[in-house]
Amino acid sequence: MRDDRFRHPFFARFYTWVAGAMDDAGLVGHRRVLVAGLHGQVLEVGAGHGPNFPHYPRTVDQLTAVEPEPHLRRTAQGRIAAAPVPVSVVDGRAERLPFEAARFDAAVVALVLCSVADQGAALAEIHRVLVPGGRLRFLEHVRADTVWMCRTQRWIDATLGPRLLGGCHCARDTLTAIERAGFTVTVLENFLFPNARTPHSFHVRGEAARS
Ligand SMILES: C[S@@+](CC[C@H](N)C(=O)[O-])C[C@H]1O[C@@H](n2cnc3c(N)ncnc32)[C@H](O)[C@@H]1O
Repeated sequence: MRDDRFRHPFFARFYTWVAGAMDDAGLVGHRRVLVAGLHGQVLEVGAGHGPNFPHYPRTVDQLTAVEPEPHLRRTAQGRIAAAPVPVSVVDGRAERLPFEAARFDAAVVALVLCSVADQGAALAEIHRVLVPGGRLRFLEHVRADTVWMCRTQRWIDATLGPRLLGGCHCARDTLTAIERAGFTVTVLENFLFPNARTPHSFHVRGEAARS
């Protein structure tokens, strides 16, 4: 049965274009670092149209990419051949991953934990499908560092986010959620992207180890 919660045809087309512009403006460098050094069986959750695929190192045996939005998933499937590692793109959602426990050596989320409906459930599922000691690599925009900017972010989340931004939330405290889910953050870089203080510019990139 069709699940319309994940159909965002306008956002999907707009995002594909915007992501290219963000990569040209420098985000691509963060994508490269995000996946550098990974190996074995890797899961990417909310892979979108596959902008990370070209950057995976050849030490990855198999990349399994989960994407619930139909247009983005089809676009990602069209990019498999150009990836340097074997990739399969499957339908699914972070809160209920269609895999057995301890299936993956590493998981990757890029600008996804802002969009999932239930961040706690998504992280619990990622924890479940990783091997003990497995790594979660993340690149996410997060809650700002001042009260006024947080208020602006919460207003955007209550108004524009659900309708225009594909369900994106900009006021989430994603690092705390990652640690609450049973991960220890071992590598962390905080940065502004773009390099200006806007509601969506507060980013974190790093790695967390599964307990
Ligand atoms: C801003 S896009 C990021 C896409 C891509 N990861 C990237 O790096 O550009 C957010 C992505 O999260 C996906 N998404 C939203 N809710 C999701 C969920 N519950 N489970 C898995 N993916 C989800 C969207 O379909 C979309 O592909």
